[in-house]
Amino acid sequence: MEYNKRQKIVIALDGFSSCGKSTFAKAIAARLGYIFIDTGAMYRSVTLYALENGAICNGIVDEDAIIGLLDQISITFRFNPMRGASDIYVNGDLVEGKIRTIEVSNFVSAVSSIAQVREKLVAMQQQMGAARGVVMDGRDIGTVVFPDAELKIFMTADPKVRAERRYAELKAKGDNVSFDEILENVISRDHADMNRAISPLRQAEDAIVLDNSYMSVDEQMEWFDNEYKKVLNNL
Ligand code: DC
Repeated sequence: MEYNKRQKIVIALDGFSSCGKSTFAKAIAARLGYIFIDTGAMYRSVTLYALENGAICNGIVDEDAIIGLLDQISITFRFNPMRGASDIYVNGDLVEGKIRTIEVSNFVSAVSSIAQVREKLVAMQQQMGAARGVVMDGRDIGTVVFPDAELKIFMTADPKVRAERRYAELKAKGDNVSFDEILENVISRDHADMNRAISPLRQAEDAIVLDNSYMSVDEQMEWFDNEYKKVLNNL
């Protein structure tokens, strides 16, 4: 398909965890020559900084201490051609590898529910997408960050299928995990994301749903091409 590269839009991609949102977002961004912004990585980076600077200690999340650290945290993205995506840096340090650990995963829900954290990161995300031409993936992009996004996609998949995908991924990495443990984690993260007080995960009214439970990557791209074409025709 021929893309109209002059007409830059914002593509908001929200949905459940382990749906393949980042893979999908990265593929779309590469196709369109857009910037891909992984907002989950930003919440993970604040969590990592809190862990490294004593604001999360012995399993206790000190909200005031995290709020006190916010002014010291500068987050930037730099494109990494080897990955075909941007790496995330905190105060100039590359943290891409450090933010995906189980320790960060365990605390990121608590950190992302702090209002001041969301305020800071949402403002940054709005600035990053101000010139349009971005694919932003997260939980509140179509509802809070860019309610005026031209294309809003809400991604979902059967929890069992998502758990199977994560199980295969972790097994391939050599992790000794059980399928039931992963399924439980997928279900509990869905619950936490949908039920938090501030900016819970929900489908924007004007979002279109992509259920990729039984779709290949090629089928998802074909689906995207169609939807993207419709949006451009209506601009
Ligand atoms: O997409 P992810 O799993 O890397 O996101 C990590 C966490 O950050 C997830 O528990 C939900 C939270 N998050 C959020 O609250 N808002 C966003 N826009 C993106 C992620």
